[in-house]
Amino acid sequence: MVEKIFSLENKVTIVTGGNQGIGKVVAFYLADAGSDIVIFDLADASEVAKEIAEKYNVRTAAYVCDVTNPTSVKECIQKAADKMGKLDLLFNNAGICLHKNAIDCTPEDWLKVVNVNLNGIFFMAQAFGKYLISNNKKGNIVNTASMSGTIVNIPQGQASYNSSKAGVAHLTKSLAVEWALKGIRVNSISPGYIRTEMTGTVRQDWQDYWESTIPFRRMGTPEELAGAVIYLLSDASTYTSGSDLMIDGCFTVV
Ligand SMILES: NC(=O)c1ccc[n+]([C@@H]2O[C@H](COP(=O)([O-])OP(=O)(O)OC[C@H]3O[C@@H](n4cnc5c(N)ncnc54)[C@H](O)[C@@H]3O)[C@@H](O)[C@H]2O)c1
Repeated sequence: MVEKIFSLENKVTIVTGGNQGIGKVVAFYLADAGSDIVIFDLADASEVAKEIAEKYNVRTAAYVCDVTNPTSVKECIQKAADKMGKLDLLFNNAGICLHKNAIDCTPEDWLKVVNVNLNGIFFMAQAFGKYLISNNKKGNIVNTASMSGTIVNIPQGQASYNSSKAGVAHLTKSLAVEWALKGIRVNSISPGYIRTEMTGTVRQDWQDYWESTIPFRRMGTPEELAGAVIYLLSDASTYTSGSDLMIDGCFTVV
């Protein structure tokens, strides 16, 4: 029974930002749970798609897609649906972070972060929701928010990122309610500090400070997010929508 409710067999999942970091690792786990995988990324993720197909014997595809561009998003969803025959699930995960104090942020800085992290999540969710509704299909979406939508990280200034992620959590709730009777569930995960290319290149004294303030005294790994994404995308969570799952080694608890 347990294997069945967590299974993603016969599903096709789009993973945005799947060329590296959280998206890449979670894509491997989704394939292991049985799903075919389509990666959308600014970078060409065809090598990652190939690796997943070979390792898990699932169908995969990769499209270069800029989630901030609604035309690119719409075209890639159409191409993916045509190639895979259908789409069922979306791990809406692409995001960027800028460490810059609010006072120094240019309009371009602000717009860039909000554009990828909030507008991009909306354009992807909207186009995917349209695809499902117009094809009379049920499906699920998991958005990647962040604990930064709830707390303010220090010592770095990152108001644009924090605000965009707070927006993702509330967008998730809004879409969950609008689509509740359409058979589309929308949830989000809010990771704490996770060791990826995004965090690993930050100056070492900040990384040391972060780890000293996390009750678990370490950053999380992308692998530690995979179970939550599988849970929220699968039939293990059929009565769960509009929820945000905090996965942060207790950071927001204290
Ligand atoms: N790493 C962390 O500590 C952490 C914590 C909380 C939330 N998150 C969130 O998790 C998500 C993934 O983060 P990560 O650490 O894996 O980052 P990462 O930088 O390692 O990977 C991000 C991926 O998104 C892609 N991307 C960026 N802009 C894009 C665009 N406009 N269109 C399509 N793809 C684009 C990049 O090419 C890259 O492959 C992000 O939304 C991030 O905000 C990360």
